[in-house]
Amino acid sequence: MKNILNITGHDLLLPNILKTEGCYIYDDKGKKYLDLESGVWCTSIGHNHERFRNIISKQLNGITHAGFCYSSEIVDLAAENVLSITGMHNGKCVFLCSGSEAIELARQIAKVLAGKSISMTLHDSYLGSYSSVVNRGDGWFRLDWKQCQKCPKSETCDIDCPLIRDIPDNISEFLFEPGSAGGFVRFPPKAMIENIVGIVRNYGGKIIINEVTTGIGRTGKWFGYNYYNIQPDMVAIGKGIGNGYPVSVTSMSESIVSELSKTDYHYSQSHQNDPLGAAIANEVLNIIKEEKLLAKAMENGEFLKNELEKIVDGKMITEVRGRGMMWAIDIPDEKICKEVYLKLLEKGIIVSFRRRALRIDPPLIIAQPDIEDFIQKLKAIIMTFHR
Ligand SMILES: Cc1ncc(COP(=O)(O)O)c(C=O)c1O
Repeated sequence: MKNILNITGHDLLLPNILKTEGCYIYDDKGKKYLDLESGVWCTSIGHNHERFRNIISKQLNGITHAGFCYSSEIVDLAAENVLSITGMHNGKCVFLCSGSEAIELARQIAKVLAGKSISMTLHDSYLGSYSSVVNRGDGWFRLDWKQCQKCPKSETCDIDCPLIRDIPDNISEFLFEPGSAGGFVRFPPKAMIENIVGIVRNYGGKIIINEVTTGIGRTGKWFGYNYYNIQPDMVAIGKGIGNGYPVSVTSMSESIVSELSKTDYHYSQSHQNDPLGAAIANEVLNIIKEEKLLAKAMENGEFLKNELEKIVDGKMITEVRGRGMMWAIDIPDEKICKEVYLKLLEKGIIVSFRRRALRIDPPLIIAQPDIEDFIQKLKAIIMTFHR
């Protein structure tokens, strides 16, 4: 790759992938790999799905991109599909290209509507690659909930707890990631989140859920926020809805749309509401529904949980956490963690390496024998460290 600048912070280990199918990818030497990373957690229905290929060719033969003043029915159909799963009936959607963009748009809208200055998030949330969310100094309130993980009252969450009590009253939006991607798959307590949402809303702030990773079935439900009793104002969706094609969505409630219509706020960019992206998103949602992939992710998640819990030894592997098809395996010794990752790759298994944790986020279509194959290979590798 002499012409590509790799600034991802990750080594490029397979420079020439030639073929993909379902959960498998094949390199230029014909070696087959089981992809438990779904690309960058994107290929929800698997690589090279026949219906995914077909919808792309169908749309290529029609319209792929249109100007701001023109559109196509497929965009509206796709929006209806998204609104049906976010439960935002009479709401509206904007299709964009990346998760970062979907979050950025939601934040801009929240700031305009709330008329307040502070953005709020949890300390371990990942919110995209733009400097507006990466640099969380001035203008941000970050709630550090590490201590809540050990709090005896986490089931009920005391509203008088200083953490909650200190939330400022000038929050424009609470950006909630319901299962931290950057924080290695930690799920904030239900009662704490419900309290925060109530307080922020009471002060006039908006609730934005970042479902870029946790959405579209990754946790075994449509969205990570479905594990909480909350109603968002806006939901940012990316990754899995495009199955690897760059399409994202900001879904808005009816009241956000109504409030926005009373302002003169505008937002435009080249690939906004592109028919190709919308057609793909619509088809991916239909496939997930028809192939019952939420139930499958939930069931396989239970299976994976039972198997992974058996490898926790409190020393080399200290904890496993996850929901549905979103898992982390903690290996505190970074050197060992990297060795396990590379040995898995050698054996044809792709997982994500995150310094002191391995991430397992397979396509929702994965079959149990593939999970068993992974577990067997992982156990064999762990054994070599115990000898
Ligand atoms: C939780 C979360 N939010 C936002 C993003 C940003 O999405 P994108 O890389 O598509 O801009 C990511 C990407 O990894 C993510 O995991």
